[in-house]
Amino acid sequence: MASGEGSNFEALVHACRNGDIPAEVVLLVVNRETCGALSRATRLEIPTLVLDHRAVASREELDRRIAASFQQRGVDLVVMAGWMRIVTEVLIGAYPERLINIHPSLLPSFRGARAIQQALDAQVRLSGCTAHLVELEVDTGPILVQAAVPVLETDSAETLSERIHQQEHRILPLAVQLAAERLGLLESNS
Ligand code: GRF
Repeated sequence: MASGEGSNFEALVHACRNGDIPAEVVLLVVNRETCGALSRATRLEIPTLVLDHRAVASREELDRRIAASFQQRGVDLVVMAGWMRIVTEVLIGAYPERLINIHPSLLPSFRGARAIQQALDAQVRLSGCTAHLVELEVDTGPILVQAAVPVLETDSAETLSERIHQQEHRILPLAVQLAAERLGLLESNS
């Protein structure tokens, strides 16, 4: 599930196709026709579904449609990578322990939509990214993987975001692997 550039989505597709994780990305759900994620999916030949939240009566109804489209395709795990909508119990309940979010800070610091700017404003020397299981409260839930990224004096939101993205692309496949192992969907390598 994405609604932005989709670089994490693409990193996940490559991790699957390279054999880094024994998984397959079967569907991309977006809520905006114009987002970068959608063009990446077209290029990568991944099926897509556009569900415009403005055309749906409630958050619950949106989540019901999303859950149904995943269930129809036999999806085991769902990843939210830049999905900028608050999800409800409907989706969380349909994918318990199976719904992963990636967030651009070292949670529990800097929850919410402006995490990178918050880190810069707080003048922390270390930020990073977190992949975690989704719970009802936004940007909470059991942490699967984190990566630390130094914040440089010269950083802008753009340069910091770029370095955080590089780490996100590394940890997101690891988080998918871990979540799948926890559920017994994969043989553990350890
Ligand atoms: C990432 O920084 C992710 O942590 C946040 O939204 C951004 C999505 O980036 N939730 P992209 O669309 O995957 O490039």
